[in-house]
Amino acid sequence: MSTIDLGRNKVIDESIQGEATIIQAEGQKNGKKLYVESYGCQMNFSDSEVVASIMTKEGYETTRNMDEADVVLINTCSIRENAETRVRNRLTEFKKKKEDNPGLVVGILGCMAERLKKSLLEEEKLVDLVAGPDAYRDLPNLVNEVEGGQRAVNVLLSRDETYADISPVRLDQGGVSAFVTIMRGCDNMCSFCVVPFTRGRERSRDPQTIVKECEELFQNGYREVTLLGQNVDSYRFNLSSKGEIKDVNLPTTNFAQLMEMVALISPDLRVRFSTSHPKDMTDDVLQIMAKYENICPYIHLPVQSGNTEVLARMNRGYSREWYLERIEAIRKYIPDCAISTDIISGFCGETEEEHQDTLSLMDLVQYDYAYMFKYSERPKTLAERRFEDDVPDDVKSRRLTEIIDKQQKHSLLAHQKQVGRTDKVLIEGLSKRSKEHICGRNGRNAMVVFPINGYDWKKGQYVQVKITDCTSATLLGEIAE
Ligand code: 5AD
Ligand code: SF4
Repeated sequence: MSTIDLGRNKVIDESIQGEATIIQAEGQKNGKKLYVESYGCQMNFSDSEVVASIMTKEGYETTRNMDEADVVLINTCSIRENAETRVRNRLTEFKKKKEDNPGLVVGILGCMAERLKKSLLEEEKLVDLVAGPDAYRDLPNLVNEVEGGQRAVNVLLSRDETYADISPVRLDQGGVSAFVTIMRGCDNMCSFCVVPFTRGRERSRDPQTIVKECEELFQNGYREVTLLGQNVDSYRFNLSSKGEIKDVNLPTTNFAQLMEMVALISPDLRVRFSTSHPKDMTDDVLQIMAKYENICPYIHLPVQSGNTEVLARMNRGYSREWYLERIEAIRKYIPDCAISTDIISGFCGETEEEHQDTLSLMDLVQYDYAYMFKYSERPKTLAERRFEDDVPDDVKSRRLTEIIDKQQKHSLLAHQKQVGRTDKVLIEGLSKRSKEHICGRNGRNAMVVFPINGYDWKKGQYVQVKITDCTSATLLGEIAE
């Protein structure tokens, strides 16, 4: 496995994030079992819950054990080449399982399905079924087609599918924290990114359905929701991209307003969101964050590079100065806000000086956390068509190491600054390392571990914790109540 786990700073190979989804079916069962494995971003994990919901309505029961499954679905990621390689290897394993059990239906979902369309089915014969991110309502039909002896494909992208009316079946029943998709697709066309090709045009989900989903989660014991979108700042309902009202009989909603609606559900429901875009993040969002104690002071604001020319080649729509001004705005409205980022090393044409600009920007911002990647050329993207992937792999790796080393220091510093404070922590459960300790996150998204010391604790409960020590990955403390 190729993850380098640096605590909260992760060099993520999305492909290694494969996880089986287990959900109990409701209603009429059809006697068949479904196994879903998810790779990649939070959006994919959230989509798998939509898929599970659609299939359980059809009578499927989900299982964690692939060997007892009648249908195996793999929800995939295309963002970097190694993510796809890992999925391919997994599909080859599934193919072997099919040799022992010819009735088994194997399907591929998500970004790789959309990108490769029929080729996995026709040329490589790795799967029976291919469904893109906007085709999940069609899954029961597609599975029927396969069971009738055909191969089935639906990779149509939609301009309006948001699965708004589908209540996702939650992965962790009795959980504390849930993801809620508020929009799908992306219209940004960053030159390195395959997402606009695999997930289609941007569209926002009806705010009423979002609020209803969050209220239900709260009633079911959840205490934290993360509002998900590729670019949450461009969330808009009943408004065109030019800001014109589409239907005069309906209210309009932007992201700041949506966040307020969710924050008002209960002061005991924490609100988080991901991902913000520096070119679109407006002050009204920061003002709403500052106004509500239950909107967590944490922003993930991917910078990608600290050099304005590289940012222009990346088609990011902002300069180094613009980005730094947005950081200043965050600090002005929410002085205590934690900030994390995504950084790509070795993008096309990146010089040593341009790389140094990324390092110097990191020094200026001092991120709490970062997700750091080597550039990986993706087919059909603007960068693949326009630029040469000309930074040698060893240079990309060396630059990445420099970025990671710097971030490690900043993460430790960020944690050290929190020592001595008392923080409200949402209890997630027992610590992985010790039965005498419990853990949870503070609003800044730092993991806090502290001894139980006879405290009568419950998952999903808030507790005041005095921070006494830290590592770059974790805060250590003791209950202050
Ligand atoms: N190569 C490397 N990293 C990429 N990302 C997106 N596309 C690529 C690529 N082709 C990173 C960006 C983005 C994060 C989700 O993945 O940093 O913000
Ligand atoms: Fe990709 Fe850019 Fe859209 Fe993010 S904002 S999904 S990096 S195109």
